[in-house]
Amino acid sequence: MLAVAILAAGKGTRMKSSLPKVLQPLGGKSLINRVLSSCQQLNADRTLIVVGHNQQLIRQHLSEHSYLEFIQQEPQNGTGHAVQQLVPILQGFEGDLLVLNGDVPLLKEETIQQLISNHRKYNAGVTLLSASIEDPKGYGRVFVKNQTTVTKIIEEKDCSLEQKKNKLTNAGIYCFNWQELSNVLPRLSSNNNQNELYITDTVGMLKVARHMEVEDSEEVCGVNDRLQMQHCEDIIQKRLREYWMKEGVTFIDSSSCTLSEESKLGKDIIIEPQTHLRGKCLIGSGCKIGPGTLIKDSILGDNVSIIMSYVSKSKVDSNVTIGPFAHLRPETVIGSNCKIGNFVEIKKSIVGKGTKINHLSYIGDSQLGKNINIGAGTITANYDGVQKHKTLIGDGVKTGANSVLIAPITLGKGVTVGAGSTLTKDVPNNSLALTRSKQLVKENWNKNIGP
Ligand code: UD1
Ligand code: CA
Repeated sequence: MLAVAILAAGKGTRMKSSLPKVLQPLGGKSLINRVLSSCQQLNADRTLIVVGHNQQLIRQHLSEHSYLEFIQQEPQNGTGHAVQQLVPILQGFEGDLLVLNGDVPLLKEETIQQLISNHRKYNAGVTLLSASIEDPKGYGRVFVKNQTTVTKIIEEKDCSLEQKKNKLTNAGIYCFNWQELSNVLPRLSSNNNQNELYITDTVGMLKVARHMEVEDSEEVCGVNDRLQMQHCEDIIQKRLREYWMKEGVTFIDSSSCTLSEESKLGKDIIIEPQTHLRGKCLIGSGCKIGPGTLIKDSILGDNVSIIMSYVSKSKVDSNVTIGPFAHLRPETVIGSNCKIGNFVEIKKSIVGKGTKINHLSYIGDSQLGKNINIGAGTITANYDGVQKHKTLIGDGVKTGANSVLIAPITLGKGVTVGAGSTLTKDVPNNSLALTRSKQLVKENWNKNIGP
């Protein structure tokens, strides 16, 4: 039997944030969600989350995972005190307890698997994950004999200068034999510099305490402050970029770009500087994105080119060019071979193949057909102050510069709209519609200067 306990009750004082530490976002996911995903495939019999500080927010954040059991720790008197809260909950449980710190987000599942196998192989009371870290500041130091036996763990705040030189650190990931642990838990004392109960003190009380050193110490980075958070973000982003470079994506200035783990990219894509993919994006082959572009939860077909623009929750078909300075808002669908130019905002609209909206336009709640030419400054006036209304524009329509189409309105196929018109009524196929008043010219109007 295996139970997993994630410690997430601490305040995270060093983050200086109103958000609990384990809810801080890292690479688009919260720390606690990352820790949870690292142990999801273990198929543990029970998964327990120790919560305390701001627990309502954490419970709510994880509410979709109905298999989780929340245990309250009040007050938060240290990691040992957190694990003590499990005693009544795990009464009669026989097997191993995997304890994970909720602020160690980069751990790989394989590593946890190895830790559990190693623990079971040697029938230890505890097997903990350790790491040799060049600059181990802030971590507890692991002291060993005969290479694998842990004699004690000393928190940095309790270390002498000599002890601080030890680079073998405690990752905050432990596999315990629950029965043995539950017997020693009541004996923890807070006789240390932080006046807390430390889970790490149990190693001296258990018969066999072992450690397993992780190969890649990046995996066990803990997040206590925003500097460590940035360090973890860097690691995630570096891993993602390297992965996609190996899959055939070119970065012009990789360190200025960020990607998300849920995004997928095709081959021969060029990512220019300052380009960011967030959420779930699918980017087709041959796309050229950036510089200066943000794409969120969107799908791009092949050979799409986007410069200095923001695309959110939209779908763009192949061979479309977008930008500079375009804004595609949610529920926008752009057909193939379209051109969306400078200072164009499109919201919740469908744009047919080959249509051009090249300059200074707002298209909202609209459906546009094929091969339309939207003139500079054309606006769909979709909002009457109370409700939003639809604009339908047929194939082959041409709108003149500065047209205002007041919705609800339908322009039939092949309609031409004269520049500067404000239309309020539907226009049948192949008509010219214009609402301009005749031009008035009064000669010699200016009396101040001669003829
Ligand atoms: C802990 C370890 C340290 C290790 C480091 C690895 C102890 C005493 N120290 O130190 O040896 O090197 O992790 O990252 O365990 N928590 C609770 N209740 C509490 C206190 C903390 O649930 O009362 C939770 C926190 O929310 C956090 C985790 O336990 O997720 C670790 O707590 P933290 O205070 O960050 O411990 P460290 O000082 O980093
Ligand atoms: Ca920590």
